[in-house]
Amino acid sequence: MKTISFFNLKGGCGKTTSLINLGWLLAQREAKTGGRVLLIDADMQSNLTNSILDYDTKRHSIYDVMTGRRAAQEVILPVRDNVDLIPSSLMMAAIEPKLDSARNKAWILEEALIPLQDRYSYCLIDCSPSFSTMTINAILASELIFIPVQTEYYAVDGVHLLEETLSYINQQYGLNKQIDCIFASIHDKRNNINKLQYESLTENFPDKFMKTAVRKNVALVESPVFRESIFEYKPSSTGAEDYRNLFKEIEEKGEF
Ligand SMILES: Nc1ncnc2c1ncn2[C@@H]1O[C@H](COP(=O)(O)OP(=O)(O)OP(=O)(O)O)[C@@H](O)[C@H]1O
Ligand SMILES: [Mg+2]
Repeated sequence: MKTISFFNLKGGCGKTTSLINLGWLLAQREAKTGGRVLLIDADMQSNLTNSILDYDTKRHSIYDVMTGRRAAQEVILPVRDNVDLIPSSLMMAAIEPKLDSARNKAWILEEALIPLQDRYSYCLIDCSPSFSTMTINAILASELIFIPVQTEYYAVDGVHLLEETLSYINQQYGLNKQIDCIFASIHDKRNNINKLQYESLTENFPDKFMKTAVRKNVALVESPVFRESIFEYKPSSTGAEDYRNLFKEIEEKGEF
């Protein structure tokens, strides 16, 4: 199982949207060879969970896994033929003090995923926009780190900050995690700031920043309301087109 965190400390930059839509394309591809994809919602906002499933405040969640109440296998929910989800819940609002007093507090998620290694070919983790122990758990459990960015002012500085954050984590835990892939998940080609940030990201991160930018597209905002990916909701939209091209580019880079 190849585990990938979708991470950015900046809120609202398209982490959840890109995870859902790249995850859907990945699942379609994996279905051809019998592969399965596991999605994990590691954010108390539960946007990933609520973009896929109807509201249910009673279901077990990642909170139960992180607090040792349930094994990961016990909280998994099927969401498509070869896609499963470990949902989040509002209980995650209370996770941080619990994690901070736990033994091995940064490695809980990685340990919990060990029994699932052979069951899935990929696992995608939706991180919250915070530098929390939960986010550190997601990063330590991941082989790859993907950074979705909105091409607004500070986008480049934001990615440099993430590099510093990862180097702090590396020092603390004796690791060598790095950013593997950066892509523009919300981009407006007609906006000068967006254009400049796109060029600057290309210059600053030549091997990591993807050429394909996902243009602003209202269908991407609407699709979660119907609990659908963009490919189910509006396959002819620019959002679907851009995510198809982005997927291809990441695939060619060898990361999917
Ligand atoms: N390409 C796009 N065009 C227009 N709107 C978009 C696009 N991508 C995402 N959005 C919208 O922008 C908002 C933020 O996106 P999303 O929730 O994916 O970001 P996030 O990084 O997961 O946010 P958070 O940090 O709160 O978890 C949402 O309303 C989403 O529908
Ligand atoms: Mg999100």
